[in-house]
Amino acid sequence: MSKLKTLPIKALEKVFGYLGLSVIAKRGVVALGRCRRGIHQGILNSFTMDASRYGSFAIMGLTPRQMSDGQLLSRLCMLAHGIEKGFSFRERKIPFFVEKFPVFLNLFEEADRRDLIKSSFQGDMSVNGLRAYKRVHTDEQFLQSYAERVDKLLERYADFPEREPAIAASPKDSQLDPEAFKLFFESRSSTRAFSDREVPRSEVEWALECAMKTPSVCNRQPWRVKNFTDRSQIDEALSYQNGNRGFGHEAPGLLVIGCDLRAFFGNTERNEAYVDSGLFAMSVMMALHAKGISSCSLNWCIPPEINEKFLNHCDLPPWFEVGMFLAYGYPLSEDLDVARSPRKSLEDLLL
Ligand SMILES: Cc1cc2nc3c(=O)[nH]c(=O)nc-3n(C[C@H](O)[C@H](O)[C@H](O)COP(=O)(O)O)c2cc1C
Repeated sequence: MSKLKTLPIKALEKVFGYLGLSVIAKRGVVALGRCRRGIHQGILNSFTMDASRYGSFAIMGLTPRQMSDGQLLSRLCMLAHGIEKGFSFRERKIPFFVEKFPVFLNLFEEADRRDLIKSSFQGDMSVNGLRAYKRVHTDEQFLQSYAERVDKLLERYADFPEREPAIAASPKDSQLDPEAFKLFFESRSSTRAFSDREVPRSEVEWALECAMKTPSVCNRQPWRVKNFTDRSQIDEALSYQNGNRGFGHEAPGLLVIGCDLRAFFGNTERNEAYVDSGLFAMSVMMALHAKGISSCSLNWCIPPEINEKFLNHCDLPPWFEVGMFLAYGYPLSEDLDVARSPRKSLEDLLL
């Protein structure tokens, strides 16, 4: 046992001992030990259940044919993004993406066979990526062996809108004044008192569309969002969450923000759903704020069994990994009080 773990128990033993209460002290120590072991076991159990859940969606088939549609498109996106990246470096090395090219082609062909190209952004990335890739690799010997397959695919999607895989970055004059940005950023606060004024769906959709510009791993955009606006459905969803007491019942809308676990592969991506959900949620919060709509983030710190119940009872798909909830609505009044929530100093932030 580490020093840190034994210290409080030793200190307790001493205090109780001095008071002549050694029997109570010993019982207390035993109880504390049990409690700690229980918590430790609980953590292990929850991690095991999470791992099993993650594994049932994030382990993909070895060949493109064995992959689900979601997995196939996610993998295709990863590779097509590799081509886009190759076009965005200061020095473009020709050839690039040589080892990954056959894998990309296999995935593209399988997505084509399943008719997934025309209807997806991954298809757009793949068609335009392949076009540009062929254009800059015309003299490359290795591409000759794939020429027939490449041409067949490009012919099939010849009418696909032409887009370059790398585009000009935003012009400088479209950038915000930094001080205005800071003011805007600092003017957002978590709001815990909402008016009953209905928030138009179009306003929420505007915020979600803005948030789609959020960065995500390999541009996979694994986010999925459920927008609850019906009072009884909001209350039902909030009944599984432990931090909305006193104000949740006032929120006229509730977003459940999470990710599709099928977008991830293997052990190294096990935390990606939470990172991508968090980034997306922040974007939504700021976009709602720009429209004068307040929000309050709500934690999703629940044991795995409650998560399962929530997904079942609220009709959400089993592969949906919740990152957090976001209660939203117009603030109760213009001069509403919010929790001050002071911030730590830059000194305490930097390592
Ligand atoms: C992931 C996350 C979970 C949160 N969960 C809750 C919650 O359950 N209930 C609540 O009242 N506030 C919750 N908050 C809001 C925080 O208390 C709040 O963001 C923090 O105090 C900073 O205040 P501000 O948002 O007003 O700047 C949560 C915030 C985050 C980012």
